[in-house]
Amino acid sequence: MATRALLIQSRRHFSNGAIQNVTMVGGGLMGSGIAQVAAQAGNNVTILEVGQEQLKNAQNIIGQSLGRVAKRLHKDDPNAANKFIEETTSRIQGVTDLARSVENSDLVVEAVVENMELKHKIFKELDEAAPQKTLFASNTSSLSIAEIGSVVQRKDRFGGLHFFNPVPVMRLLEVIRTPDTSEQTHQTLMRWGKSIGKTCVTCKDTPGFIVNRLLVPYLAEAARMLERGDATAEDIDTAMKLGAGHPMGPLELLDYTGLDTGVFIMEGWHRKYPDNPLFKPVELQKKLVAQGRLGRKSGRGFYDYRKL
Ligand code: 3HC
Repeated sequence: MATRALLIQSRRHFSNGAIQNVTMVGGGLMGSGIAQVAAQAGNNVTILEVGQEQLKNAQNIIGQSLGRVAKRLHKDDPNAANKFIEETTSRIQGVTDLARSVENSDLVVEAVVENMELKHKIFKELDEAAPQKTLFASNTSSLSIAEIGSVVQRKDRFGGLHFFNPVPVMRLLEVIRTPDTSEQTHQTLMRWGKSIGKTCVTCKDTPGFIVNRLLVPYLAEAARMLERGDATAEDIDTAMKLGAGHPMGPLELLDYTGLDTGVFIMEGWHRKYPDNPLFKPVELQKKLVAQGRLGRKSGRGFYDYRKL
């Protein structure tokens, strides 16, 4: 990642409009990454999780990633690197009580599993507990923002903030507005995104927004290409890295983001838009998921990571 963007992320007391206190609902890989970049930019971040074990996991993810960022920012100055890690960590706290997590919150970002019922339950409770001023956003990668926000009263203060994995490295943030999102909310979310070092783009509330709408069908076609026996996994990935300049080949990227995630997104879209051939789930990918080959996180996907 460009050092300039890292520096922006790590700049303290950077003006980010009205937002200073951020509540991160869900401390998985994406939630931890979002919490980290917000804290690096000087926000106070409260991570809400279901238990201490999950909070510990978030702390570990953030600790490892902060170590990498600190190394890059202060490679010749271990004292400055440690100070950076300590200061950023001190701005992050973990809680398991929903009402407490939003007491002083300016912005809530939700990044729990892609389950509409669960998101509705959480946002209903948040809507009752949070101050009126608090803005709400979901980091969903495939569900409709308007549908997620349908359960809250504050529809004008609800939008989408879609980050990319790994959050501390990827420079893009998609800021999604529904027909109900107010201009003021949208502008505040755009300003906040910029203040945490991201380049923001806007998209309507459409399936996959910009990146996933293009990326998911491309990744699926790479899996179909392998399924048809057109080329080997290694050659498909090499081709896209060297021929198209991508940092990862499509099958490597599917392993990185999780084959189960890919299948889940495609199945959801296919159910909603059965006539769109781009959204047709890939049999090979479904078969690998059924075998527990989910990608890097399970040790095996298209590739075998167990010996690495
Ligand atoms: N935290 C902090 N720093 C990290 C990091 C993390 N989690 N992961 C990597 N880095 C840093 C490394 O420390 C390294 O820094 P250095 O150059 O100072 O040593 C730098 O990033 C490069 O990392 P690596 O040397 O380990 O490996 P690569 O050069 O192969 O880069 C990569 C890794 C950044 C993941 C790169 O391969 C890449 O950009 N891949 C594509 C990722 C992508 O497409 N993401 C989007 C997925 S779609 C999505 O998220 C949408 C969702 O809805 C599913």
